[in-house]
Amino acid sequence: MKYFIANWKMNPVTEKEAIAIAQDIDEENVMIAPPFVFLKTLARRVKKASLAAQDVFWENPKGAYTGEISAGMIKSLGVSSVIIGHSERRRYGGDTDERVNRKTRAALSQNLSVIVCVGEPEVVRKKGMKSAERYVKAQLGKDLVGISKKNLNRVTIAYEPVWAIGTGMSAKPEEASSMMLRIKRYMKERYGVGIIKTIYGGSVTEKTIKGFMKEKTIEGFLVGGASLNPRSFKNLIQAEKRP
Ligand code: 13P
Repeated sequence: MKYFIANWKMNPVTEKEAIAIAQDIDEENVMIAPPFVFLKTLARRVKKASLAAQDVFWENPKGAYTGEISAGMIKSLGVSSVIIGHSERRRYGGDTDERVNRKTRAALSQNLSVIVCVGEPEVVRKKGMKSAERYVKAQLGKDLVGISKKNLNRVTIAYEPVWAIGTGMSAKPEEASSMMLRIKRYMKERYGVGIIKTIYGGSVTEKTIKGFMKEKTIEGFLVGGASLNPRSFKNLIQAEKRP
């Protein structure tokens, strides 16, 4: 069964709305990644879904770091996972590959599971799939350096081509799938990890989901916009059961 991570980004505004959406999409194969401020409430309200934070700081578990949230704090809420290196954190939050690596280490040290996001920007993709592959491998080489094989078992790689995020232009399912295969192969060659989970994100909607469902290398989806509309999101989850 494929699984779905609802990345709400900086939405919704109120806790009341957050609870309403979460209760509507509370399913076993769903992980909800709300803004930090809603995590505690949702940890109590959500019954079947699991929860993820959208980011974490690299120092742990406490200290003089105004505005930051540690892996220890996330864990203390009973939250199991964290998304790290989303292209919006790289773009607006100043995340470099080195920071992504430090954050990933901090999260893994607290036994959290990590979803590390990678993906090429449009200028790179325009040069072709080979360039995109080189870009993604370079990210993975830096983002995961020095992490033990045992800890890499708790890492999922989300391939989110930057040009596909929030644009309505998703990657072609066969191209996304071929990138997943290359990521899996690279993880084996470079890090000796036999099995690594790979998921796709970027304009996954009711219209685009069908093609992706057929691809075995895509184990799940990281969904932005469509995860805020329970009706649309439920249609995504159920797409697997439809012929
Ligand atoms: P959209 O689904 O809105 O394209 O966002 C994808 C994303 O960034 C998920 O993390």
